[in-house]
Amino acid sequence: MSAALRIENVSVSFGGVSALDEVSADFPQGKIIGIIGPNGAGKTTLLNVICQMSPPDKGEVFLGERRLTGMKPNQVAALGLRRTFQASQLFAGMTVLENMMTGLHLMSTTGLFGAVFRTRRMRDEEAEMRRRAMEALDYVGFAHFAHRPGNALSFGQQRIVEIARTLIYEPKVVLLDEPAVGLSVNRVAELDALLRRIRDERGVTLVMIEHVIRLVMEVSDHIVVLSSGRKIAEGDPSAVRNDPTVVEAYLGHQAHA
Ligand SMILES: Nc1ncnc2c1ncn2[C@@H]1O[C@H](COP(=O)(O)OP(=O)(O)O)[C@@H](O)[C@H]1O
Ligand SMILES: [Mg+2]
Repeated sequence: MSAALRIENVSVSFGGVSALDEVSADFPQGKIIGIIGPNGAGKTTLLNVICQMSPPDKGEVFLGERRLTGMKPNQVAALGLRRTFQASQLFAGMTVLENMMTGLHLMSTTGLFGAVFRTRRMRDEEAEMRRRAMEALDYVGFAHFAHRPGNALSFGQQRIVEIARTLIYEPKVVLLDEPAVGLSVNRVAELDALLRRIRDERGVTLVMIEHVIRLVMEVSDHIVVLSSGRKIAEGDPSAVRNDPTVVEAYLGHQAHA
């Protein structure tokens, strides 16, 4: 079976600094993949390259058979690759449901012309987006929050809304940038359960960068370890945990810090 997402020999440098150096990886459909590594390892850069927010200097990214390299981020989203942003917050002046719908017009078929000349078709489309957004909120157990202002939700609840937002257009792959940041232990357990449901019930491939190692080890089917822009190890959680190269990368980094 071909991979849901494939990265081939991706390199990125900023000025003279190599952020990613010839990184390749395959992510199978319907799995949870954790990307870990010390600060500055290249994790965020890799996420940005995958969703084409930052073009690679070298290498290719494929979603199934489709080559993503060179596409615009909204084209990539429309093909079924969605992402969350690290510690992003909902807009305070909009309801939770309105927050869910922001950005969706980028993916609609009427486009800018339709947005300016508000047509019947556009109103129908908006009703459909609203229905789908509501369905996604319901899926994460947040239907009752739909008409509350965005800032009425706790930081942890806003993280869950962000994840719900990625589910609106039946994604194939969802990238999560530190979904557990700032969450209490109980909230991390809820997040763990939600990620498993999304994988098992929707067959979504989840690619997660995370500092909360306990969550990554607990929930990931496969882990990729980056250090100084290189892939230094990969495997299932127990293999990675016991890999001396990985232990050394983390300890060496702590010694530096
Ligand atoms: N926009 C940028 N400009 C310059 N250097 C950057 C930029 N983004 C990342 N880097 C550098 O690239 C390396 C990898 O960064 P990053 O991908 O943010 O690592 P991580 O997310 O693993 O902490 C670091 O050395 C970082 O300083
Ligand atoms: Mg980062």
